[in-house]
Amino acid sequence: RPSIDIAVLAGDGIGPEVISAAEDVMEAVSARTPLGVGLRPRHVDYDADVYLKTGRLFDDALREELLSSQLILFGALGDPRVAPGILERGIILAMRTAFDQAVNVRPVRLYSGVESPVRGVNAENCDLVFIRENLEGAYTGGGSTTHRGTGHEVALQESVNTEPVIRRATRYALGLASRRRGHLTLCHKTNILTAAGDLWWRVLQDEARHFNDVDIDQVNADAMCLHLPYDPGRFDVVLTDNLFGDILTDLGAMVQGGIGLSASANLNLEGTAPSMVEGVHGSAPDIAGRGWASPFATILSLAMGLASLGHTEAGIAIESAVAAELSGGVPISGVGLPGGTAGAAERIADRIADGTAAPVPHS
Ligand code: IPM
Ligand code: MN
Repeated sequence: RPSIDIAVLAGDGIGPEVISAAEDVMEAVSARTPLGVGLRPRHVDYDADVYLKTGRLFDDALREELLSSQLILFGALGDPRVAPGILERGIILAMRTAFDQAVNVRPVRLYSGVESPVRGVNAENCDLVFIRENLEGAYTGGGSTTHRGTGHEVALQESVNTEPVIRRATRYALGLASRRRGHLTLCHKTNILTAAGDLWWRVLQDEARHFNDVDIDQVNADAMCLHLPYDPGRFDVVLTDNLFGDILTDLGAMVQGGIGLSASANLNLEGTAPSMVEGVHGSAPDIAGRGWASPFATILSLAMGLASLGHTEAGIAIESAVAAELSGGVPISGVGLPGGTAGAAERIADRIADGTAAPVPHS
C-alpha cells in the first residue's frame, strides 16, 4: 500500500486548529484500508513566532524540508505583530514560486445543505472551478516608485505575463473543462488591458484547437462580478490571471456559502516538486483558539491534494464525508458549530471510517 509523506505547516491563528482537524481526517483515511493509501503527516516548524524570533523566511533549509514530502498541507500564516506582506510574500508566494505551482485550482461549489448569502444560488446551479495562474501577473515583482516625497510620486506596479506560463495554465484549464462540462471562460479585462488580455486570448484560442469538446468564451473581470453571484450556472471552468483570480475567488467563496468552505490546490503540474493545498481563508486571529474556525476548507483542500496525486478514492471519500456533514444544514463556523472545529472533524472522520457517505456527483 503506497504511503504519502505530507509536510504540514500549521502556522498562525486558526491554522493549528484547522490542521488538527485535517489530521483526524488523515488518520481516518489511513485506517480505512480499502482507500489504499497511508498518510504520514510531518510537522514543519514555522509560524510568525519563528519569524519574530529569528527573522527566518523561506530559505534553503525550509525548501529542503518541504521538498522531501509529496504534498504540503498548509494551515494559515499571518499575525498582527508582523507587518502585512512579509509572510505572504516571504513564505506563501515564495513556496508557490520555488515549487513551480503553476495553477491554483479553486472550486466554487455549493454543497447541498449550505445556504448561499446570494438569493437563488443553490447546489444545482453553483459548481464551477477557477484556474488561477499562480506565478506571474501582478504578483511577480516589487514594483518601483520615483519622485518620492516630492508630492508627485509615481508608483509603477507592473504585471508580467509570459506566453509559456499562460500556455501551461491554459492547457490545464482546457483539460479540466474537457473532463467536466466542456466550457471554458477566460476572465481578463481585454477591453482595457489590451496587451496582456490579447496574449491570454490568443494563447487560449491556439490551445483550444486541441480540445474539440471544449467551447471557449471570455468575460471581463468587472462583468464577472455581476455574473458570478447572479448566475454562477453559466460557468464551468474559469481561467484567469493571478490578481483577478485572487479577487474573484473571494467573491466565489462567498457565493458558495462562505470563505470557511473554500478550498484550493496550488499544483505543480509536472511532479517536479510538491503541490501545496490550503484553505482560501487566512489566519483569522480574532477567533483563534476558540474552536470556532471552520475546518471544512482545509479538509476539502486535503482531498484535492490527494486526488492530484492520483488517490481519487481517498479524495472522494473525504469530500463525500464533508458533504454529508454539511447536508445537515449545520452552521459552518462560529459559536453555533456543533462541537466546534474538533467536533466537526470527528464527525467527518467517523463518516470516512464507516465508509457510508455517498459520493458527491461531479460534473
Ligand atoms: C490567497 C491569499 C494570498 C494571495 C496571499 C496571502 C499571498 O490572498 O491565497 O488568495 O494573494 O494569493
Ligand atoms: Mn486571496
